[in-house]
Amino acid sequence: MIDLKFGIIGCGLISNWHADAILQIEGTQLVGATDVNEKARAAFASKYNIQAFNSVEELLASEDIDVVCICTPSGLHAPLAVRAANAGKHIIVEKPMAITLKEADEVIEACEKNNVKAAVVSQLRFTNAIKKLKDAVDEGLLGRLISGDVYMKFYRSQEYYDKGGWRGTWKMDGGGALMNQGIHSIDLIQYIMGPVKTIFAYTRTLARKIEVEDTAAAILEYENGALGVIQATTSIYPGLPRRIEVSGDKGTIIVDGHSITNWT
Ligand SMILES: NC(=O)c1ccc[n+]([C@@H]2O[C@H](COP(=O)([O-])OP(=O)(O)OC[C@H]3O[C@@H](n4cnc5c(N)ncnc54)[C@H](O)[C@@H]3O)[C@@H](O)[C@H]2O)c1
Repeated sequence: MIDLKFGIIGCGLISNWHADAILQIEGTQLVGATDVNEKARAAFASKYNIQAFNSVEELLASEDIDVVCICTPSGLHAPLAVRAANAGKHIIVEKPMAITLKEADEVIEACEKNNVKAAVVSQLRFTNAIKKLKDAVDEGLLGRLISGDVYMKFYRSQEYYDKGGWRGTWKMDGGGALMNQGIHSIDLIQYIMGPVKTIFAYTRTLARKIEVEDTAAAILEYENGALGVIQATTSIYPGLPRRIEVSGDKGTIIVDGHSITNWT
């Protein structure tokens, strides 16, 4: 029995991950997809043997679709999510959910008004290392939390930015190392440490020819009183694995990439 029927907006790189995941989940069906690029939507529809909708309007008007995956450039996430909610569709929106707080609030409001659910893709929350770290913190194994730090010293070439067209722009990427690449770990550190009370940061564009930041360093205070550091780059060579360090007065856990490398 099919319980949930999916449509995808935006047939680029990440949409393949959504389609492959939907195909693996029992009780779901991938019905169709759309993209402003006619070739992209035709190729995607042919690859997955699904309907190619000619426009977002057409896809949202389809009574065959219950859930819409939004896989477009980031600046379109919130406006499309609001349209999808107003069309009565549930939403799975790629990260970042929105590129401003105001737009994120508009998505939540539209979902509440139309009684639909929205989920943001934050897949790193479900890795084994993060699940263990989160459980350890929630169970109090690290004691009173003292510091929560993330280091995301990544590398992205100039070609990476030039290829997408939308990447590295304020309007469609919404930010750089922090908004696009860094958002995953910024989500994780708040998921683990709790909300942030105050933050101070420097952001710079040091190495790439882009509008947004390729280098950022921030100091934060969490509402629970702990302090922390966020570093994010797409500018350094050769790039390092993501590192998360959480310490309390009874212990420390360090996650490097997807592995716990220290638990003391
Ligand atoms: N969760 C993750 O780890 C992860 C990884 C990669 C990308 N992403 C996110 O996925 C999103 C897309 O990234 P990508 O790498 O697939 O980009 P992409 O450029 O490969 O694909 C975007 C697609 O959207 C289409 N598009 C643009 N405007 C549209 C519109 N108005 N209506 C319909 N289609 C439209 C483009 O033609 C393109 O085919 C970004 O927001 C990015 O942050 C998330």
